[in-house]
Amino acid sequence: ALTYDLRGTRVLITAGGTREPLDPVRYLGNRSSGKQGFALARAASHRGATVTLIAGATAELAVPSGVELIPVVTAAQMSEEIAKRSDEADVVIMAAAVADFRPVSVADSKIKKGAAGPAPIELTTNPDILRTLVAARTAGDVAASTVIVGFAAETGDASGGVLDHGREKLARKGCDLLVVNAVGDGKAFGTDDNTGWLLAATGTETALPLGSKTLMASRILDAVTDLLPEDRCS
Ligand code: C5P
Repeated sequence: ALTYDLRGTRVLITAGGTREPLDPVRYLGNRSSGKQGFALARAASHRGATVTLIAGATAELAVPSGVELIPVVTAAQMSEEIAKRSDEADVVIMAAAVADFRPVSVADSKIKKGAAGPAPIELTTNPDILRTLVAARTAGDVAASTVIVGFAAETGDASGGVLDHGREKLARKGCDLLVVNAVGDGKAFGTDDNTGWLLAATGTETALPLGSKTLMASRILDAVTDLLPEDRCS
């Protein structure tokens, strides 16, 4: 049954993939469609939350009605938009596929082939938005009650260490919940279905059966709701 159990809750969600420019026409990107993040935004909005969706590159997706969309391109822009809003969020869900690296420099004009063959692309590390957010909460710049959810897209299956990687990532990132899903071989990225595990910092591990990204979204929001303080403004 539809319940408004997120009424009065401010939810910030990232979705899609970042694009890190090389020159005016080229970028380094990834295959994220944004579908899981958009499904989360829609589901949270239906449950009464005030939702802001910070979206990088996505497939052609309809913005759920009532959801504020903040379009971004790069990880740096996504990071900036999160930093601006995280002190006013009750829940932050980082479903975006953020590029770990970006080109050191962006050429002003299209890079030419050159006679010497391919030039190497020099990369530098992007800020880890999720870890920065958790650090801000630890420092008291973000409310201690803010629920922080991360995603881990891993290639392989349970026996291939997807779950172990997830456990390690949950500890390293310091978020409250980590959604682990298997990607590659046509899994998760771009599809309408998703499957995986929901790992909680408390140690609880829940298998998320194969189902629609809408179903996955509602499972994730159920777990988020359990972590929200009882006395939040609603
Ligand atoms: O380390 P990895 O990229 O697998 O972590 C994935 C999680 O961390 C996702 O929730 C993603 O949105 C977030 N992330 C981030 N900033 C980065 C890289 C990933 O917030 N630079």
